[in-house]
Amino acid sequence: MTETAFDTDATAAPSIGSRLSPAGGVAITGADLGEKLSPAIREAILAAFREHHVLVFRDQDLSRDEQLAFTRQFGEIEEHVARHSAAGRYGLVHMVTNVGDDGQPTTKLTQTGNYHWHTDKSYHAVPSLMTLLHAKELPPDGGDTQFANMAMAYEALPEAMKRRIAGLHAVHSWAASRRRAGAPPPSEVEMRERPPVDHPLVRTHPETGAKTLYIGNHASHIRGMPEDEGEALLLELLEHATQPQFVYTHHWRDGDLVMWDNRCLLHRALANYEMTKHRRVLHRTVVTGTVPF
Ligand code: SIN
Repeated sequence: MTETAFDTDATAAPSIGSRLSPAGGVAITGADLGEKLSPAIREAILAAFREHHVLVFRDQDLSRDEQLAFTRQFGEIEEHVARHSAAGRYGLVHMVTNVGDDGQPTTKLTQTGNYHWHTDKSYHAVPSLMTLLHAKELPPDGGDTQFANMAMAYEALPEAMKRRIAGLHAVHSWAASRRRAGAPPPSEVEMRERPPVDHPLVRTHPETGAKTLYIGNHASHIRGMPEDEGEALLLELLEHATQPQFVYTHHWRDGDLVMWDNRCLLHRALANYEMTKHRRVLHRTVVTGTVPF
């Protein structure tokens, strides 16, 4: 793989590899994310983020506090509504894991949303900008994360479908997301904190100007359309948008920290490992974005 040093004046600049897939992704080596970033390196990271959507930082070993400090350099960190019912897993650093409360790996937690295509926290009125996921314990094989490029998917839609969905708004809700994932309904306090919200079905990326499909598991139906019709349209779009040509599959390595852009990607975990045998533990931090338009 060709490596290019970041275009900064720093003497020890990280290197960026070639694109990992047409849908996105680049690997970055030689970065010490435990240290405060220089303005030039921070800008170079953001430029790579805009261009490649998924950044894979190799060889990191960040504590929770270090991950929080790294994340804060890109914006305000979001809390998770599930902290009300599962405080242990949903501190400011979320635990993404197949390990149950008894410390054993289990398939039970596959019923949570991360195994379904989604964009983080689209059930927020102001949804997530970026997510950072840091591998802590990985299964020997599999446990991959997939990313689907929603700008490519939008561009590839037939013109008639583009016309049909222009101006539509989808309703996103924590309750619908839980229902679809087979999880128990949210509590009253969770519903009060996160009532359903509407977002444009086609959103404009605030930095690149690209039009992207804003869909996924948290989107339940279309405002002003019979619910079954809206749900069918959302499923049709999801099927289109997650075809292999729009997808980058990340095969995790020890030390990876992956940062992605929720404004133009869907993602999901793959249950392609022996879930009752091997532990998969990752630390997640999420940065708030802006109101979609
Ligand atoms: C997530 O949905 O934020 C995590 C994806 C994963 O578990 O790979």
